[in-house]
Amino acid sequence: MKVPVTSLVLMIAVLTVVQLSCNSAWAQFIEEEELDLLFGFYHRTCPQFEAIVHRKVKQWVDKDRTLAPALMRLHFHDCSVRGCDASILLNQPGSERKAEESKSLRGFELIDEIKAELEKKCPKTVSCADILTAAARDATVMAGGPFWMVPYGRRDGRVSIAKEAKLVPMGHENITSLIEFFQSQGLNVLDLVVLSGAHTIGRCTCGSVQSRIYNHKGTGKADPTIDPKYLNYLRRKCRWASEYVDLDATTPKAFDSVYYKNLQKKMGLLTSDQLLHSDHRTSPIVAALASQPHLFHYQFGVSMAKLGNVQVLTGEEGEVRSNCNFVNRY
Ligand SMILES: *[C@@H]1O[C@H](CO)[C@@H](O)[C@H](O)[C@H]1NC(C)=O
Repeated sequence: MKVPVTSLVLMIAVLTVVQLSCNSAWAQFIEEEELDLLFGFYHRTCPQFEAIVHRKVKQWVDKDRTLAPALMRLHFHDCSVRGCDASILLNQPGSERKAEESKSLRGFELIDEIKAELEKKCPKTVSCADILTAAARDATVMAGGPFWMVPYGRRDGRVSIAKEAKLVPMGHENITSLIEFFQSQGLNVLDLVVLSGAHTIGRCTCGSVQSRIYNHKGTGKADPTIDPKYLNYLRRKCRWASEYVDLDATTPKAFDSVYYKNLQKKMGLLTSDQLLHSDHRTSPIVAALASQPHLFHYQFGVSMAKLGNVQVLTGEEGEVRSNCNFVNRY
């Protein structure tokens, strides 16, 4: 076969670019290794760890599909305050878990059940932070999302302060404060837009959107950035603040990139969802993810892996709790 010289040059140029991007991916991988988290962290001390988490999460999610997004949210709340250190699981007066912002979090009983079984099989070995991270990954896969390898070795924090739960984004923030918050966690704008895509599944209470549909910024009117038909639907659906409403109005059960298409049609539920489409810093990413479902699927795994490594405690820091609800007493 005769190949013109020009196309050979082109091919080499393309291959060089591929090579370069592989190298930078590798460099990133090495950097992550320096966190002291390891893929084989429990290989010798608790080889059944991931299988136990997987079995329990499957058991519970098969019975109640809504637990999948709940576990992803619990993990996000954990990592957002003092890093992924299971501080959200501490069940004591004045802890994050007792804050108003944590009231609708769920999945605690499942984590307790996994921990109890692990304490039987490999006592005092697996941290609650690692259990929650693994459970959030498995929940993502069960919801139809991507799989990613989770490195382990996170240690459990001893500090949990209710006031700090206010740091967690709740859906009414502007894009500047969201970008700044993500940056403070070592996450970038792409991670912000991609992780918001978790709203392709899951629900929230109508209470979170009532001001948006009835009294936007004290005007007595709805937020003008809501599609009129969608607004009608929301007003019918949300007569009571305690009702639930899907975050993805069109395909709430499928883990897909339709969430981003909805934003382009002014059908984002939370203020912070809809702003992703209108803000110039995030809208190009929304457009890219809306039109490339595979890109969303792939990048969601990448961004979740990054989220799971936020400010982790390792080595001799923190402890491995015996009960996820309480700091060890000794
Ligand atoms: C964004 O929100 C922050 C925190 O509530 C506020 O201080 C800031 O003024 C807001 N920025 C804009 C552009 O609205």
